[in-house]
Amino acid sequence: MHPMLNIAIRAARNAGKVILRAYEDNDKIEVTQKGSNDLVTNVDKDAETVIRDTILKSYPEHSIVGEEHGLIEGKDTDYQWIIDPLDGTTNFIKGIPHFAVSIALKVKGRLDQAVVYDPIRGELFTASRGQGAQLNSKRIRVNKAADLSGTVLATGFPFKQKHHMEAYLAAFNALFIHTADIRRAGSAALDLAYVAAGRVDGFFEIGLKPWDTAAGQLLIKEAGGLVVDFAGGNNFDNSGNIICGAPKVTQAIVKELRPHLTDSLLR
Ligand code: IPD
Ligand code: CA
Ligand code: CA
Repeated sequence: MHPMLNIAIRAARNAGKVILRAYEDNDKIEVTQKGSNDLVTNVDKDAETVIRDTILKSYPEHSIVGEEHGLIEGKDTDYQWIIDPLDGTTNFIKGIPHFAVSIALKVKGRLDQAVVYDPIRGELFTASRGQGAQLNSKRIRVNKAADLSGTVLATGFPFKQKHHMEAYLAAFNALFIHTADIRRAGSAALDLAYVAAGRVDGFFEIGLKPWDTAAGQLLIKEAGGLVVDFAGGNNFDNSGNIICGAPKVTQAIVKELRPHLTDSLLR
């Protein structure tokens, strides 16, 4: 195993312990509001600190960008870690056992290592560039459906940007009719990991952040899938608008969504 993946796993497991301890003793969870429908807890912040400390102990010169503590620029900017310490905070606060730690490493701007860890189920999704993707050390692959019929997709609602709801619902309607069903489980990092594992056939969401998707993107690529923006291009890191799945499923989703999206979403 790549030594940096090993450290990413250690960091994710350490954060998972902090998260589970708080989940089981939820009196100690302090919730504050970051933005519109955007909540954060002391646990998100503590988990990010634990991840950051674990990484910097082994790689003190690396750079880290985390959702809660922002950028720590190290001497070595070629190595950048991208962290979502707790993806699915709303589930966590509500006591819904579906959330994850997401950790990715970019080397010279290219995704190199990825971990998505579900501490409730003990499921560890990992990938190293060029080495495939694994769930608890077993190889995973995207589900290669030829078209949308019979597929189960995952999505996230634009709950922080409700002005997109009209376009989202029009696009959802057009797509839903062709699928078997669509899930909204509440953790984009796990949605992406589930696509990589073939548990769902594809995923789409508006306005995600780099820490939501960095690890998941590498998992999907290494599992044989494709990640695109809403116009079928590569601008998803900037726009946060993402579609993924097996290549044919991804293209079929783009085709159904596209006519219903506003120009601002087609970037
Ligand atoms: C959120 C979750 C959710 C998605 C949101 C994300 P957070 O992350 O991934 O599923 O719909 O867009 O922001 O805030 O829980 O880390
Ligand atoms: Ca997130
Ligand atoms: Ca988060």
